[in-house]
Order: sequence, then C-alpha cells, then structure tokens
Amino acid sequence: MLLTDAQLEEFDREGYLFLPSCFSKEEMALLASEAEGIYAEDRKEVWRESSGAPRTAFAAHTYNEAYRRLGAHPRLIEPVSQLLDDDLYMHQFKINAKAAFDGDVWQWHQDFGTWHRDDGMPEPRAMNIAVFLDEVMPINGALMFIPKSHKAGVLEAGHDLSTTSYPLWTLDKAEVTKLADEGGIVAPTGPAGSVIMFHGNLVHASPPNITPYPRKIVYLTLCALSLIHI
Ligand code: SIN
Ligand code: MN
Repeated sequence: MLLTDAQLEEFDREGYLFLPSCFSKEEMALLASEAEGIYAEDRKEVWRESSGAPRTAFAAHTYNEAYRRLGAHPRLIEPVSQLLDDDLYMHQFKINAKAAFDGDVWQWHQDFGTWHRDDGMPEPRAMNIAVFLDEVMPINGALMFIPKSHKAGVLEAGHDLSTTSYPLWTLDKAEVTKLADEGGIVAPTGPAGSVIMFHGNLVHASPPNITPYPRKIVYLTLCALSLIHI
C-alpha cells in the first residue's frame, strides 16, 4: 500500500495519518485473542501495571507467528518505507493493553525522545505505525495527539520513573499547553483494524481506561536502515 501525494502532504503538515479499517475485524479478533494468550503468560517481555494488569508486551513478532506476520505486513511496511525513503528495521514492537478498568495513563511524550536518550538513535528517521486490535472509543483510553507538534524538534523532557510501571521521558505542562494552543488535541477513534501512522516527534499521550472495554493497540516502531552503521 503506497500513500498518495495528498496523504504525504497531510503527514508532513499534521505529523500523523489516520487510516480507518485497514484490516478486517476477523483478522483483528485473531490477533486480539493471541494477545490475551501472551498477556496470560509469565514472561519477561510482558510489563504489568501496578495492579498486575498487563500494560505492554514487547517483541511478540519474535515469538508469535500471527504477530510475526503482522510485523512483516506490506500494508504496514510499504507506506513507512515510502515516508522514510529507506529500507527498514524493527526497532521496537509492542502490544499495549490499556486493560479494561486497570489500563493506566501514558503521559505526554515524544517517542523519539526515548529512542534518542535511552536507545541512542541519532536522528528521528523512525516512526510508529499503530494498529487497533479493539475498537478505540473516546471513553476507553484513546491515543491523543497534538497535531503539528512534530515540527518542534526534540523537546526538553524529564525521566518519569515513578508515575506508572513504565519509565518515560515526559514533557512538562507548560510545554504541552503551548503546543496545544497552537495545534489543538485530536483523539482518532475507530473500529478494530484501523491504523495510525505518526512521526517520532509527534507529542502524544493516553488517559487511563476505567471502562469495561479493553483498548489493545499494536505498535511497530520502524527505523530507517541507513541509520545503522555497522
Ligand atoms: C505510547 O505512547 O507509546 C503508548 C500509548 C498508548 O498505547 O496508549
Ligand atoms: Mn509513545
């Protein structure tokens, strides 16, 4: 799947693209059920909320056949390769649970902030492609983005090691307020199988999920291959 000129222009301007219903509900039901199986396992790749509910499962593309196939799917790989104008490697692969009742907050942050500071990625030539495994609604912990914030470059951030079970480089309230005054805040919602592609510097967050409806999203973090110097 290749993006049109209008989509490329929209991505550059807004920092993200929302593509509803890229995969069928049946395909997502299978992946959702595999995810529940992974969360039920006692393995080091599964990080949990302080309540014990699953928060995220890393690297499922390396130990689960359905996720291996998703991680190599041309409908996901081709448009990112087109946007980054390069071949790609998988920098990170995670299935975020945002569990019913217990799914906790993800504070405001830029992903490249973490890839740069913690992983040593030199440039923001990497991005996320998110695939909804469940329906994402306004009430079950939808991802929130500040459009156009990717143009701000890498922002000052503090290393939050205490708010949740997962360490994150988070932005302060004044910065988020300034960026939201300029770009507003959006929260794309849609059926399972919808996809969001977003720039590594786009500021985003998600609130806790206190509903009975889980909100699982898979993230492929794809990075330009030429950034690796062997
Ligand atoms: C993230 O920003 O990396 C995850 C946010 C979420 O899944 O809600
Ligand atoms: Mn993120």
